[in-house]
Amino acid sequence: MTRRDGLGTDLTDKSLLVTGGGTGIGASTAIAAARVGMRLMITGRRVEPLERTAARIADEGGVCEVFVGDVTDAGANEAMVDETVSRFGAIDAVFANAGYGIEKPVVEATGEEIRRIFDVNLVSAVDLLRVSALRMLDAGRPGHLLGCASILGKFTMPDYGLYSSTKAALTHVCRSMRCELDGTGIAVSSVHPVTTKTEFFEVAGRESGDRHGPVLRADGTPTHAPKIFVQPPERVADAVIRCLRRPRAEVWTTFTGRLACGIFELLPPIYDMVLRSEIRRKKRESTTS
Ligand SMILES: NC(=O)c1ccc[n+]([C@@H]2O[C@H](COP(=O)([O-])OP(=O)(O)OC[C@H]3O[C@@H](n4cnc5c(N)ncnc54)[C@H](OP(=O)(O)O)[C@@H]3O)[C@@H](O)[C@H]2O)c1
Repeated sequence: MTRRDGLGTDLTDKSLLVTGGGTGIGASTAIAAARVGMRLMITGRRVEPLERTAARIADEGGVCEVFVGDVTDAGANEAMVDETVSRFGAIDAVFANAGYGIEKPVVEATGEEIRRIFDVNLVSAVDLLRVSALRMLDAGRPGHLLGCASILGKFTMPDYGLYSSTKAALTHVCRSMRCELDGTGIAVSSVHPVTTKTEFFEVAGRESGDRHGPVLRADGTPTHAPKIFVQPPERVADAVIRCLRRPRAEVWTTFTGRLACGIFELLPPIYDMVLRSEIRRKKRESTTS
């Protein structure tokens, strides 16, 4: 891709495929990408949120196409990539962002629940990155692959073992692909949001049988994390755009979160202490709400 002074890669007219582009981080990223001139293909299972995002982009003069489908359907990834190439002539970047959470102890999850979360968050995401990379290599064009992991790809929490495992595995795949594709012009990045105000927690509550009480506080922030760690999806979107302009290995929106991951890895007793205090905070909040 051509370079522009100061801003990094010029993204004008480049195409970007975003899975889960109807809501939350995916929608905010699509909107932010359209604002810097990218042409969007957004996907998801529900038509309505996709059309809402596409309409917002069109209102601002951007280009956004919609593809409706489940990422786990056989051939879905090839179809999404084909559609992007057919509409825009090429696929320049892909954000494998579709995913969801379950909040329950591993022993309480059914085999089907375990398979499903790995299928959506990991297998389908990796397959999309793979299919997109092959298309970029075939076309002899540079490109950028991004996988939406999480801060929970770096450590786990009680009731989030399954979710964080999918994100840890996706982080490893991105890292490995980054090295494997070195020298081809294809960049690979993993994205590590901290708690972000989206539909994620309502979905996680539903997927877990709402067994943990309210997932949202009265002000709409997720009970999942202390309020100071809750960010809007636009913050992740801006960080993703910066990464598209200047590719980097990992996308973070908070230095504190990143630092915490390092400390937890180096000093497990500190991790346990923070975890215990988090569990107490959640209990306190759920009894007073
Ligand atoms: N919110 C957070 O605190 C947070 C933190 C770290 C990482 N993340 C990650 O960020 C990504 C986006 O989540 P979000 O926070 O923006 O939540 P969200 O608003 O619930 O977005 C998830 C998107 O994924 C789509 N999706 C889910 N399952 C799908 C499937 N089987 N096939 C196709 N599309 C599917 C959903 O659309 P449909 O339902 O219409 O299919 C939805 O648009 C996820 O990978 C999540 O794990 C979120």
